[in-house]
Amino acid sequence: MELLLIADPSEQKVRSYLSESRCFVASSDGVLVGACVVQPLGEDAYELMSIAVEPGRQKSGHGTALLKWVVDFFREEGAQRMEVGTGSFGHQLAFYQRQGFRVTRIDHDFFVKNYPEPIFEEGIQLVDMLRLTREYAGRPA
Ligand SMILES: CC(C)(COP(=O)(O)OP(=O)(O)OC[C@H]1O[C@@H](n2cnc3c(N)ncnc32)[C@H](O)[C@@H]1OP(=O)(O)O)[C@@H](O)C(=O)NCCC(=O)NCCS
Repeated sequence: MELLLIADPSEQKVRSYLSESRCFVASSDGVLVGACVVQPLGEDAYELMSIAVEPGRQKSGHGTALLKWVVDFFREEGAQRMEVGTGSFGHQLAFYQRQGFRVTRIDHDFFVKNYPEPIFEEGIQLVDMLRLTREYAGRPA
């Protein structure tokens, strides 16, 4: 939970999707360094609900390794697509797009309407959510 709250500040929200999701963790030398939660969206679609790496271990490749592993895992499960919602700015956008996610929709005012407190990143208030989709069909591994 400590890790998941780095990606989503609302424990209530995190708990609301945990029971229907699968949680994957990354460890380094036996220490848990990252976590990722994925929820089914239908028969062959999934939503990446959360991914986080412990702050002191970020920028060391753990997040990319975990994301790649999870994307491959769901390809093996027969997924046609994986979606994720993220803020409209910041390094997370590049992080997902490097793994083949593309922007497919904008949820205007999502972070204002769905969280009781304003959320700031890099000094900028998160307002709109970008929805990104990773299509599997026809994409090389
Ligand atoms: C997003 C996150 C999971 C990436 O994990 P990570 O282990 O740091 O990622 P990697 O080390 O694989 O780095 C991926 C790229 O992002 C960059 N990056 C990671 N954190 C960064 C930061 N805080 N600021 C700028 N760039 C950053 C890395 O430099 C790297 O870029 P490069 O390949 O050009 O060097 C991690 O930063 C995190 O937990 N962030 C807080 C939670 C969060 O925002 N989750 C996503 C919610 S949508």
